Amino acid sequence: MIFVYLFLSLLAAVATAEDGSRAWLRYAPVPQADNYRSHPSSIIALNSTKSSPVYTAGQELQHGIKGIFGKQLGINGTSNSRPAIIVGTVDAYRKAYGNFDEADGLEEDGFFLSTEGDNVVIVGQNERGALYGAFDYLSRLAQAKFSTVSYVSNPHAPIRWVNQWDNMDGSIERGYAGPSIFFQNGFVVTNTTRVAEYARLLASIRINGIVINNVNANVTLLSSRNMDGLGRLADAMRPYGVQLGISLNFASPQTFGGLSTFDPLDPAVDAWWANITDQIYTRVPDMAGYLVKANSEGQPGPLTYNRTLADGANMFARATKPHGGIVMFRAFVYDNHINETNWKNDRANAAVDFFKDLDGKFDDNVVVQIKYGPIDFQVREPASPLFSTLRKTNTAIELQVTQEYLGQQCHLVYLAPLWKEILEFDMKADDRPSKVKDIISGERFSRPIGGFAAVVNVGTNATWLGSHLAMSNLYAYGIMAWDPAAQSEEVLGSWIRLTFGFNRDVMDTITDMSMKSWPAYENYSGNLGIQTLTDILYTHFGPNPASQDGNGWGQWTRADSFSIGMDRTVKNGTGNAGQYSPAVAQVYENINTTPDNLLLWFHHVNYTQRLKSGKTAIQHFYDAHYEGAATAQTFVKQWESLQGKIDAERYEHVLFRQTYQAGHSLVWRDSINQFYYNLSQIPDEAKRVGNHPYRIEAEKMALSGYRTYAVNPFHTASGYTAIVTTSNSTVGTATANVTFASGTYDVAVNYYDLIGGKARYELSLNNRTIGQWTGDLEDKLGHAPSIYLDGHSATRITFRGVEVNKGDILKIVGKPDGIEPAPIDYISFLPPGVAD
Ligand code: GCU
Repeated sequence: MIFVYLFLSLLAAVATAEDGSRAWLRYAPVPQADNYRSHPSSIIALNSTKSSPVYTAGQELQHGIKGIFGKQLGINGTSNSRPAIIVGTVDAYRKAYGNFDEADGLEEDGFFLSTEGDNVVIVGQNERGALYGAFDYLSRLAQAKFSTVSYVSNPHAPIRWVNQWDNMDGSIERGYAGPSIFFQNGFVVTNTTRVAEYARLLASIRINGIVINNVNANVTLLSSRNMDGLGRLADAMRPYGVQLGISLNFASPQTFGGLSTFDPLDPAVDAWWANITDQIYTRVPDMAGYLVKANSEGQPGPLTYNRTLADGANMFARATKPHGGIVMFRAFVYDNHINETNWKNDRANAAVDFFKDLDGKFDDNVVVQIKYGPIDFQVREPASPLFSTLRKTNTAIELQVTQEYLGQQCHLVYLAPLWKEILEFDMKADDRPSKVKDIISGERFSRPIGGFAAVVNVGTNATWLGSHLAMSNLYAYGIMAWDPAAQSEEVLGSWIRLTFGFNRDVMDTITDMSMKSWPAYENYSGNLGIQTLTDILYTHFGPNPASQDGNGWGQWTRADSFSIGMDRTVKNGTGNAGQYSPAVAQVYENINTTPDNLLLWFHHVNYTQRLKSGKTAIQHFYDAHYEGAATAQTFVKQWESLQGKIDAERYEHVLFRQTYQAGHSLVWRDSINQFYYNLSQIPDEAKRVGNHPYRIEAEKMALSGYRTYAVNPFHTASGYTAIVTTSNSTVGTATANVTFASGTYDVAVNYYDLIGGKARYELSLNNRTIGQWTGDLEDKLGHAPSIYLDGHSATRITFRGVEVNKGDILKIVGKPDGIEPAPIDYISFLPPGVAD
């Protein structure tokens, strides 16, 4: 009996485990469900075979209603059981019930939903649309939105894809949630359960295509074993209406096919691609198409043969056209060996320079996929000028859900407001309203296709993206690709309700944190349009402003002792401002009309330049970094206020990340401020920069088995110096007398957590252990950590409410492990409420 009871409770626990795998599709019971009287008693899924999204819709409705109302509805195919939820396509609905006038208002993938009358009616323009309607209905129920509705919903654009940057070996480029769900050890996976689950998630936010492999594509995807695998993946996703696409390597005919060339105008190459494409379509008859990164960052492309990018794109277009496929051709083409000593050189000019003369030369089934800004997913960029340059070419915007330059899912950054700014930006082409969202939909320049792509990079981690809160970005991406007019905060609200339930405090707190998160991150990473000041030569995570300059990558800041910023004006600079339409160009050309948040993107100014706020640029830097990091500290307190209001599993998981972010935001703040202070020698008016009254520097403690270490970059260590054990087997001890007044403090230790070792630490006061920990963030955080002491590995642990007496002996014992020499930077004694 006890066994049965245990077994049952275990089952219940498993059924409700909040590990994030159910994301926003939890279908948890809702409050006031009893008020919802008109529960239909059955589901009628019209005309559906098992692989049809309409069949899936029936299953999903059954599953969702069971979860929300605890009521098991039968699914039957007959058209006369009432009241029912009827779901099907326009055609099937007409066959079963006769007229359907609303069909006229439906566009491809659109749906009609009505809860008027006895029945709930969900009719899709196509099968996929029917499934979207079912998900929409369930989303309403799961949010306790029970009012009667009747409406048509159509997508803003036909292309709503995600890109995965998964490699054949199972790793994921810029992925922060574990290995690939698509590939393992060089091959397509055999178990597609998780692939189907991902497709389900994507369908619920109306994503209709997915490119499953890295844009830096591996030719072995084209082996017959892997092509068979593609068939398997497509089969797993088809019931969700998610079409498969793949990235191609331009040189495949040569490196994989054994031809002597990959020249796109060589008939043998053309024939090779046509043949490969036919083979793939035999396995995946409804393949969405190809994605191609050519002549970019070392990837092969048509320029090798003096052919144009359009020649290259059209070669794939010819191969896919007979199958109805499309070619997403990336505009991310630039020379990564440009010379910074030439003031006029500018990577931001590259896309327009490469593509402007090709407008009108791309086949109709080619879509040029353009990153939102001219450089590379930075914390702030203006909209890419290419959006208004291409008028006779289909275009799509490329966004990034995976937070490559925005904290790699270890920092909370809700991205919808960033995307909104770009999508709503008016490019003013020909002085006519030309919002980016209306250009990419095809509307503004009357193009037949266009839309959205976002790099997502989910992995095998139960949370999908490695962080529960980061999932708001995936949700928002889908919702905004369908309807860019949706408001960031409203979308967030729906996501919170679906993910965490109805508690008002939970709603208010997560909303507040999320809406503050992008500005906070911008404040402590890189502001005034200077880009994310991260290490662009290494992991793109922690601070390293010097890495931006002095190399050919072109993410330059041109910072020297007096001045900073890229002069992109036409009159003195790189001419980039002139790539915009005259009405926009004139705003950016003039320093007085350029918004402060893009000042250093377009202008090179002295540090003492006055902003519109009246502050100097440098003082703004200092203040913003302090403000941003201070906001990140409040996220921890805000999250803690939700204890008991959220399940323990997700509460703890998020708390860990918020605590990490709070610590790392201080690393960012101090590092960037110290760097620019050193460079400019202009002191912070508030005297904070370089002045840390609560710290005991590790290098100033009495050391045994430890030695000092000059950290590089220097500004990623307080006082530029840390301590490391004298060998990788020596236990180190650092001691000091506490000189602060007796009282209660939060004691924080800044240390470096390297990949390749799990050092152990013990902190004590007068031999009273305050805390012990292990340097194992590489296991817990999922981002690409560092093998060095730097801004990526720098981190902090805090022990709260510690009783301290003046004169106490502070001791840290560090036990190295692997390559990790138990490195420590400093220890802070923080009076209540002080952020360091
Ligand atoms: C960024 C990113 C690369 C990626 C590239 C791309 O530079 O760091 O990993 O391959 O963008 O979008 O092609």
